[in-house]
Amino acid sequence: MYISRRSLLAAGLGTAVAGCTSSTDDGSSTTLPSDESTVASTTTESTTSTTTAATPAPLLVDAPAYTGDIPFALGTASGDPDASSVVLWTRLSSRPLDGDAFGATDHQVAIDVATNQTFETLVYSGLHDAPAAHDHSVHAIIDGLAPNSWYWYRFRLGEHTSRTARTRTLPIAGDDPLRLGFSSCQNWESGQYAAHRHLADAELDLFVWLGDYIYEYGPGNGGVVGSAGRRRHTTPEVTDLSGYRQRYALYKSDPDLQAHHEARPWVVTWDDHEIDNNHAGLISQDGQDEQEFLARRRAAHQAWWENMPVRLGSPQDDVFEIHRTLQWGNLVDLHILDGRQYRDPQPSDGEAVPIPGAGEGIRRLGPTARDPQQSMLGSAQRTWLEEEVRSSTAVWNVLGNQVYMHGLDAFPGESPATNIDTWDGYHGEREELLTSLTKESTNLVVLSGDFHASTAADLRADPFDFDSQVIATEFMAPAISSAFPSQLRPLAPLVAQFNPQIRHFDPDNGYMTCEITADTWTTELHRLTDVTDEASSISVVARFSVRSGTPGINTIEVFE
Ligand SMILES: [Fe+2]
Repeated sequence: MYISRRSLLAAGLGTAVAGCTSSTDDGSSTTLPSDESTVASTTTESTTSTTTAATPAPLLVDAPAYTGDIPFALGTASGDPDASSVVLWTRLSSRPLDGDAFGATDHQVAIDVATNQTFETLVYSGLHDAPAAHDHSVHAIIDGLAPNSWYWYRFRLGEHTSRTARTRTLPIAGDDPLRLGFSSCQNWESGQYAAHRHLADAELDLFVWLGDYIYEYGPGNGGVVGSAGRRRHTTPEVTDLSGYRQRYALYKSDPDLQAHHEARPWVVTWDDHEIDNNHAGLISQDGQDEQEFLARRRAAHQAWWENMPVRLGSPQDDVFEIHRTLQWGNLVDLHILDGRQYRDPQPSDGEAVPIPGAGEGIRRLGPTARDPQQSMLGSAQRTWLEEEVRSSTAVWNVLGNQVYMHGLDAFPGESPATNIDTWDGYHGEREELLTSLTKESTNLVVLSGDFHASTAADLRADPFDFDSQVIATEFMAPAISSAFPSQLRPLAPLVAQFNPQIRHFDPDNGYMTCEITADTWTTELHRLTDVTDEASSISVVARFSVRSGTPGINTIEVFE
């Protein structure tokens, strides 16, 4: 479990000044302190050592010199854990919305990791770069950790120490149950982040973010009002690096979002709004010149990477590959997808179906959508995914996916009237992909977001062929704050009526949690009482189960 003294020295930690001790592991605690603390970085209590020569205790390093305001105004985060390591993240910032004093100077920051909340059982202390070129963000991979274990961590700079945060590693084997939360879509102007406050307090191992962490829009007409004032975007639509950076700073200024990041590791992907609404590859929403849009996308990728706790190097090219797999023992392989970057343009040949409140993206299934060559994933990512599932030995294969796969016929007619921004615009590829994946895995579960509503659904290769076999299961989480269009709310009861594959539909905000065992997958839908209220309560309004070996929703309980 311990990082060796030699590796600490190799990491340039010659400035360590005081010894720490090993004591009993209290890793069962789940409470996080909420107060920021300021501690002397160069001293630590010396108590009776229980370490042996074979397992020398790590030394607490000196924090780099710094005078100024608290540099952890954006909080900290962890992400992309495996069985022996995890990514720890922060971005040095004192006044994120007003410009910072860190400027063009490269900095370093100290990181401590312990098996208890008071850092008496330190397992790592070291210095990590916060380069100016990365907007002083830190992506530190802390290795040599024990599998299936909780850890506490903190960042230090000068006299300042971040709040203590909690993270964990994954089991290396076996089928220990996994408690997973997931959601998406947190438009700043649409609501408060009470859902994140409840998630921060929940007992979950991992949180999966399925996209729309920021919205690129300029200020709208409204914006909810909270104790910190009206929540409005502070700049016009963002299109360049400084704009995207500032937008992340605005969103990350929320204390509930920070608390949730500090509660457990996140596994994140993006959807469209991290760059531009409903874009597909280099096709922008407003028909921007492709070279201009490429520059915009590079800026958006850079800012996303700087602000996310991802196990990825900084973007180096026009293409930034983010698809990856996490393995929770032998129970779950979680495949994180990128449904935006490699997309073919959305189809334009199905008959347009005007539905007030649904924008211009509803079309009847046409030849392009039905063509298997019309790809959402791109051939390289699709080949990778098929190989990952083919070689998987996990009980459950899970897709961390953006837009719904279960299909939705918004207005029955000669052929389904579908939202072409979803997998319905890539109907032929979906049919081939689901067929090939479910040949290899009888327990395929798709997690989705994007729609600002939630579903529990049976998946068929052709979602609109209701006589065909159910071959997988999908859960679409509600949005943290983004709104389901008010004009469409009266139509919500019709969704399930026209779409028997959708076993449950709910247009309200919240999130989903999943308890996954080798026998059963149980998903709970958590619904916020009032998304405009930062103190909103939340309640479990439905529970769904899937039995291992039997694709599709098995049981549905509704509590209202
Ligand atoms: Fe969204």
